[in-house]
Amino acid sequence: MRKLAAGNWKMNGTAEDLAEVSALITAHPAPGCEMLLCPPATLLSRMADIAAGSALMVGGQNCHAKASGAHTGDISADMLKEAGATHVILGHSERRADHAETDIAVRAKTMAAQAAGLTAIVCVGETEAQRNAGETLLVIGAQLAGSLPVKLTGAVDGLVVAYEPVWAIGTGRTPTLKEVGEVHAFIRAALVERYGETARAIRLLYGGSVKPSNAADIFAVPHVNGALVGGASLKASDFGPIVAALAKA
Ligand code: PGA
Repeated sequence: MRKLAAGNWKMNGTAEDLAEVSALITAHPAPGCEMLLCPPATLLSRMADIAAGSALMVGGQNCHAKASGAHTGDISADMLKEAGATHVILGHSERRADHAETDIAVRAKTMAAQAAGLTAIVCVGETEAQRNAGETLLVIGAQLAGSLPVKLTGAVDGLVVAYEPVWAIGTGRTPTLKEVGEVHAFIRAALVERYGETARAIRLLYGGSVKPSNAADIFAVPHVNGALVGGASLKASDFGPIVAALAKA
């Protein structure tokens, strides 16, 4: 399985930050794993131009479930694709919290993304209160059940699942490696139960405070097939070592 190092710039980055993209490509011309950056939509096509012909892929951070229409401020999957995206992050906890995105909405977006030929990176994860209440697997099971397409259509690499504990995002805190392993094994089992043996090839990413200093340990956990990285994806000097750790894992 080809591993994936994905960076999520969130609402960060203007044209001057594109220098980081060139630096990343120069430092990792053939990284040995898949390498993806998801900038704000305003930078997508410029980043795609810089990445053209390199090992770097670019993606969106969200899309609408519909192909077009009266949806002010929204972007369709086809539009992302035209701008150069190959992937789109869907159901990130910040979208779920800031925009009240439900599992059903995330599923509709996932199907729209896949229909447009994009790889959907679907995010799930528990809050701190849910973890403390012992509800982590229950919550993630429900998110998977509601957010993922009922049937796996198209190529198995058109779907990626990211486990991102909400309390680990941007906090510098991470679950223990044992906890990461438990959740990833649970997600793998849930996907196999839902889609059959083919689901063993679906990439599972861990996300939440991944840094150069903890990346190698996280990548050694079974069923961790890459990372979704926020803050540490903004600088090539942080993201590059994470990519390198994944390539070596
Ligand atoms: P972080 O964010 O790496 O800054 O914790 C991860 C994410 O939200 O994808």
